[in-house]
Amino acid sequence: MELQGKCVLLGVTGGIAAYKMAGVASALKKRGADVEVIMTRNATQFITPLTFETLTGHKCMVDTFDRDFKFEVTHIELAKKADVILVAPATANVIAKMAHGIADDMLTTTVLAARCPKLVSPAMNTGMLENPITQDNIRTLEKYGFTVIPSESGQLACHDVGKGRLPADEVLLDYISRALAPKDLAGLHVTVTAGPTQEAIDPVRCLTNHSTGKMGYAVARAAALRGAEVTLIHGPTALQPLRFVRDVPVTSAQEMFEAVTGCFAQTDVLVMAAAVADYRPATVAADKVKKSEGEMSIPLTRTADILGTIGPAKTHQFLCGFSMETRDMVAHSADKLRRKNLDMIVANNLKDPGAGFGVDTNLVTFLTPDGAVRQLPLMSKDAVAGAILDEILARKGK
Ligand code: CTP
Repeated sequence: MELQGKCVLLGVTGGIAAYKMAGVASALKKRGADVEVIMTRNATQFITPLTFETLTGHKCMVDTFDRDFKFEVTHIELAKKADVILVAPATANVIAKMAHGIADDMLTTTVLAARCPKLVSPAMNTGMLENPITQDNIRTLEKYGFTVIPSESGQLACHDVGKGRLPADEVLLDYISRALAPKDLAGLHVTVTAGPTQEAIDPVRCLTNHSTGKMGYAVARAAALRGAEVTLIHGPTALQPLRFVRDVPVTSAQEMFEAVTGCFAQTDVLVMAAAVADYRPATVAADKVKKSEGEMSIPLTRTADILGTIGPAKTHQFLCGFSMETRDMVAHSADKLRRKNLDMIVANNLKDPGAGFGVDTNLVTFLTPDGAVRQLPLMSKDAVAGAILDEILARKGK
């Protein structure tokens, strides 16, 4: 679990979005985090401490002078225990207090005492948010090292439409994961390809494959959380765009080829997880092809092999390919590793249960030019992504 062994302290303040933090607390627990919650007195008007206590298994702190707790000096103990603090929703009032070092309740006292990364997610009416006083206070927080999560636009509780909404749970969770991740890929440009390509037959039809992009997206996300500058070049997928990455959507193998070669000089690590078509229709019909009696065949021509082209021409880049097979996986993958001049290949067998397209798990084997063949246990694609980056980092230094 991504957040195992980490303590996340949520500071919930008095805005209508406070109720949404129950979902965030629950999701953090599911990811393995130890979750503590401090509420302001005003927040208890919107959601009760009991909700958070039930979800987290900890007493939810509100009152600085509450004596019914296990710690000696709670605001100091929680400030020391937290690996990250997220104040969300953060009202204009609490933002103003934190920006000026005012510590007049349990939450602001703890925030002032803490030395861990601090995230603040402003959520309020657009007028309050855009008020220069609030904007100045937000800049002050950033100057002091707080990470301010931009609020989103939409319909607000006051029926105004504008900026000031609390972002979705997944956004807050990604900021927390990034704050907690080691920054061992900082300074590296990582390019990741993901998903299928589509090769047009005519304006309505294409040749494609079953790749969903999940594995490549997991690698891109993990690399970004670990501090890399990530470019994600992907074919058409149904996945939500990732945060903290440069998103480059493409359609065909040729477009992917151009996108990869276009950023190759600035790339330190290339992870080619995309399922690139090896063939495309030799010609693309300008109009829809109409059916007729009898059989039909479509002449195909080879697409450019992206890794096969850039592999032999690499300079400082570390190249990691993927290999999906249905038989003789190790032999075929070792052959691709050699032919494409790769530094590593991640192989999987589509016929293994839990591996391959669409599922959230993968069963992979790493092959490297030194002849090492390392099979990993069945893991989530997120865990596989972490293992791939660990292996790359370990080998890149060699
Ligand atoms: N790949 C690529 N360009 C292509 C096709 C594939 O860069 N036109 C990359 C894939 O992204 C993957 C690796 O090459 O990282 C291996 O792909 P695969 O198609 O399985 O390898 P092939 O050598 O094409 O083997 P096969 O004969 O099984 O198709």
